[in-house]
Amino acid sequence: MLIVRDIVGDDWAAVWPFLQRIVAAGETYCYDRGITEDQARRSWLLEPPGRTVVAVDAAGAILGTAKVHPNQGGPGAHVATASFMVDPTQAGRGVGRALGEHIVGWARAQGYRAMQFNAVVQTNTRAVALWQSLGFEILATVPEAFDHPVHGYVGLHVMHRHL
Ligand SMILES: CC(C)(COP(=O)(O)OP(=O)(O)OC[C@H]1O[C@@H](n2cnc3c(N)ncnc32)[C@H](O)[C@@H]1OP(=O)(O)O)[C@@H](O)C(=O)NCCC(=O)NCCS
Repeated sequence: MLIVRDIVGDDWAAVWPFLQRIVAAGETYCYDRGITEDQARRSWLLEPPGRTVVAVDAAGAILGTAKVHPNQGGPGAHVATASFMVDPTQAGRGVGRALGEHIVGWARAQGYRAMQFNAVVQTNTRAVALWQSLGFEILATVPEAFDHPVHGYVGLHVMHRHL
């Protein structure tokens, strides 16, 4: 059983090791691969109107996390954006899907009119398939916008769905 809930104080200690591992791999996010814990905490833990959640199992172990916030300010603030990190040791167990469904439902309930992912790495086929199955479409692919450690310059998809 998976529960998605708001992140609280002590949770960060469980999130940081896998978030660091994902960022250090350099395959899925446009973050500095050498990000410090302080930088990561400041970018990942959001105040309202943003929100940061964790997915926990029945025993309370943290398996993944997501954040959601307005994609732009002012007249662009009715479109949300979100980011997701699932502990690589827990991949393929439905954690990403549970987080995605929760975030989409929450954003809709908040009154956002759409959700946009700005930079989904083209070679991140698991994420692309997951977002497509949750109703997102690829609007465009920015060519060679991501320097992948294995594949070299690959595209970044802009993905979108109405809510
Ligand atoms: C992308 C990510 C969020 C997916 O999370 P996950 O918990 O592994 O995904 P799920 O178990 O919910 O599976 C979602 C879909 O991925 C695909 N998938 C799952 N396991 C897979 C595997 N071993 N190989 C290929 N595809 C797989 C399936 O399409 C699955 O759909 P299904 O539910 O119909 O089977 C996670 O891998 C992750 O955090 N990756 C690193 C960071 C990242 O890429 N974030 C997203 C940036 S856009």
